[in-house]
Amino acid sequence: MKLGRLNHIGVATPSIEESIAYYRETMGAVGIADPFDLPEQGVRVCFVDTPDSSGEVGKGTQIELIEPFDENSPINGFLAKNPAGGQHHLCYEVEDIGAAREWFEGKGKRILGPTRIGAHGTPIFFLHPKDMMGQLTEIMETPRKNAHGSN
Ligand code: CO
Repeated sequence: MKLGRLNHIGVATPSIEESIAYYRETMGAVGIADPFDLPEQGVRVCFVDTPDSSGEVGKGTQIELIEPFDENSPINGFLAKNPAGGQHHLCYEVEDIGAAREWFEGKGKRILGPTRIGAHGTPIFFLHPKDMMGQLTEIMETPRKNAHGSN
């Protein structure tokens, strides 16, 4: 397996609206998409695009804001420990999600659940932070058309 680009940093928040205001007013972000619900993942999501080195917004690494969708959200535990929110996961792209899964399995890394379609509409899976130097890690197949899968 070859490591691809850092697609996004997942940031948990108790309030997407407050986080949007923060990224717009404090961080000067301009590439902020409309939030959307992802009930099957238990989260509400909002993509904040950063520019690449040429300054083009939408070509850099994204911030993926995630807010609990309901009381069963998988990020409720994280927010209980981090009430103000915080950095939740890192997401790296790979060319072939099946090959990547086999690669990590072969290294004895715990994969959290099945490969599924993530917030960007591409196949993803998560790896246990205790096997990944403390970092909850999302592996995403590189989007085929739009480099970011944002809408
Ligand atoms: Co993510």
